[in-house]
Amino acid sequence: MLNFDFYNPTRILFGKDRIDEISNHIPSNAKVLITYGGGSAKKNGLIDKIKNALGKRIVLEFGGIEANPHFETLMKAVDIVRKENIDFLMAVGGGSVIDGTKFISIASYYKGNTENILKYGFSLIPKDAAEKYIPFGTVLTLPASGSEMNSGAVISHGDGKFPVLSEMAFPQFSLLDPALTYTLPAIQAANGIVDTFVHVTEQYLTYPVKGLLQDRIAEGILLTLIEIGKTSVTEPENYDARANHVWSSSLALCGIVGAGVPKDLATHIIGHEITASFGIDHAQTLAVVLPSMLKIRKDKKKEKLLQYAERVWNIKEVKDEDKIDKAIDKTREFFESLGIKTRLSKYGIKKEQIPLVIERLKEHGMTALSETHDLTPDISQKILEEAM
Ligand code: NZQ
Ligand code: ZN
Repeated sequence: MLNFDFYNPTRILFGKDRIDEISNHIPSNAKVLITYGGGSAKKNGLIDKIKNALGKRIVLEFGGIEANPHFETLMKAVDIVRKENIDFLMAVGGGSVIDGTKFISIASYYKGNTENILKYGFSLIPKDAAEKYIPFGTVLTLPASGSEMNSGAVISHGDGKFPVLSEMAFPQFSLLDPALTYTLPAIQAANGIVDTFVHVTEQYLTYPVKGLLQDRIAEGILLTLIEIGKTSVTEPENYDARANHVWSSSLALCGIVGAGVPKDLATHIIGHEITASFGIDHAQTLAVVLPSMLKIRKDKKKEKLLQYAERVWNIKEVKDEDKIDKAIDKTREFFESLGIKTRLSKYGIKKEQIPLVIERLKEHGMTALSETHDLTPDISQKILEEAM
């Protein structure tokens, strides 16, 4: 097993009818800014319930955080935080709102030019980079990103999506009420299953380091997603399916699965360029890239792919090659069974558009990807051609 640090201070409030309890975790004299997205939380009455739970505190609202949250939008909230002396942020939404709120927290009193927050790459932003960080909590409405229980965010700016990582970006608490996800359109629920699945495979389908427990946790989450995925998408008010979906999403990217094992973020990194170039939903880019990436890289990942085939898909073929091919086919079929297309052409993308994605990978320095740092732009090109 590799050396690792594990730190995760986020309090989880899991379960039904607990909105009033958020008040116990926010200072009673705090001036609060509620952040939300395009309006789903406003329309279904959730924002009003949260305001009610906040009682006598002074509460302001900032709506309109779009999917793949944009720097410019978030800077408008930063202005409000500074002008109004906000001292607590309450994020209500999915990954985009939560990521956006993390950025607002960091940017409000950042010491330098706020655009530089997007230049740290996968390095942690130091604690002293800002005069202070605004503490925040989250009420999750879409189980997918895992942002509610981690310290990362992904922010869009110009033609790119940029990671932002800081120990100061852990939520103080996250309310995970599966019933708050009932209003999700089926496609967003399906996106949530796929995103979670890929967060796990990126920390599992690499090379073995005898992380026996991490492997079993990863397999446990993958098996759970396969068991409840279809139900979570087709029966939106099935509490048990949604409860398992929500908890799988949070656990997948909270640091436990990835502790002490290699990671391969290539699927996400290539996927981010596809979203930035063509506007395809985050999880749908992953559904396109992952099966093709596994096919092109199957020699590098042979041992873990065999383990995945046997333990997750229960494949008993005699020949290794057949086992692996079948496991990759099963992965693609699973995504398709949820209503998520896995071919670039099905999203209207043509082969001639692939070089744009490759150029952007190069422009953003993403030229040595994967757990072995040898996934070059030429190989990314092959993966995307395989994904057509
Ligand atoms: O904006 P509203 O009107 O609320 O609608 C949203 C949005 O249109 C809707 N929605 C959310 N909850 C709903 C709902 N509609 C009805 N009922 C509800 N209960 O769903 C749409 C998509 O929301 P979004 O937040 O964009 O989706 P998701 O949670 O998939 O987040 C995607 C973002 O997360 C980033 C992605 O890059 C992308 O920007 N990620 C963040 C990560 C992290 N912080 O660790 C890791 C992930 O890999 C991911 O990259
Ligand atoms: Zn993701």
